[in-house]
Amino acid sequence: MDVGEIYVIGAGTMGSGIAQVAAIAGYHTIVMDIIPEQLEKAKEAIQRSVEKLLSKGQLTAEQAQRVEAIRYEKEMKSIGFADLVIEAVVEDLSTKQAIFRQADGLCQENAILASNTSSISITKIASVTRRPQKVIGMHFMNPVPLMRLVEVIRGFMTSNETLQTVMDVCRQMGKEPIEANDSPGFISNRILCPMINEAIFALQEGVGTREAIDAVMRLGMNHPIGPLALADLIGLDVVLAVMEILQRDLGEDKYRPAYLLRKMVAAGHLGRKTGRGFYEYAS
Ligand SMILES: NC(=O)c1ccc[n+]([C@@H]2O[C@H](COP(=O)([O-])OP(=O)(O)OC[C@H]3O[C@@H](n4cnc5c(N)ncnc54)[C@H](O)[C@@H]3O)[C@@H](O)[C@H]2O)c1
Repeated sequence: MDVGEIYVIGAGTMGSGIAQVAAIAGYHTIVMDIIPEQLEKAKEAIQRSVEKLLSKGQLTAEQAQRVEAIRYEKEMKSIGFADLVIEAVVEDLSTKQAIFRQADGLCQENAILASNTSSISITKIASVTRRPQKVIGMHFMNPVPLMRLVEVIRGFMTSNETLQTVMDVCRQMGKEPIEANDSPGFISNRILCPMINEAIFALQEGVGTREAIDAVMRLGMNHPIGPLALADLIGLDVVLAVMEILQRDLGEDKYRPAYLLRKMVAAGHLGRKTGRGFYEYAS
């Protein structure tokens, strides 16, 4: 199936990045968020990112120009024209299901509905639609413009045609799609989030300072960024949501979220996006 128009729902960290790469790849791109300030923020973030990439010679002037054509809207007005919808709202099953139910009712019958979920079952999301064969996971990595991987997740009913179309779109965006099966956390967060959670346990128990924990993993394990700094980049609320899903759906206590993680999320210290997490960030 040919994809011409991509409709992104949610203009946060991930939605803005996805809209940026979609537009640069030449797709007509619309991004929707219920909070108008988020749309403003997304516009600014895209502009900043494009200027940076341009100055480093990683984009041509023509590609950079394409982001000017992104349309922003606060209601699902033009979703009916989309060939591919990519949802990137909060990591919460009922919120995502409500959006998929609404999008299913408004979209043309051939449209594919994708979720950028980090851990929620694609099969459960698809179950509220009348097109489960056209529902799929497109798990982009943060920051979207820089990271090559898209983990593509097949739900129980996802068709081969849907999978093929989405793999092609990922490649057109300059990404490398890797297929994973629908299981809590898929491949990426099944491995990554428990490691981050363990780093938080180590901090909580005084095994090392935040700097020491991050430095051990960077210098000793060759990770480009320490796990606590990475948690700040991902968002502590997202990490907590993933751990809760792993613990609940895999039924094992080894996925229990660290209490310090719960406390920091309750305090609103969510990482870079709120200016404070394990580290402090200038606004
Ligand atoms: N942050 C990461 O590193 C990362 C990486 C991969 C995947 N994800 C996943 O991507 C999704 C989004 O994460 P994020 O970090 O961008 O979150 P975020 O909090 O930065 O952004 C979420 C956005 O969704 C909007 N929103 C909430 N309800 C909405 C609705 N009903 N309709 C339209 N917009 C709505 C919010 O206003 C906000 O702008 C989550 O499922 C998350 O698990 C996140």
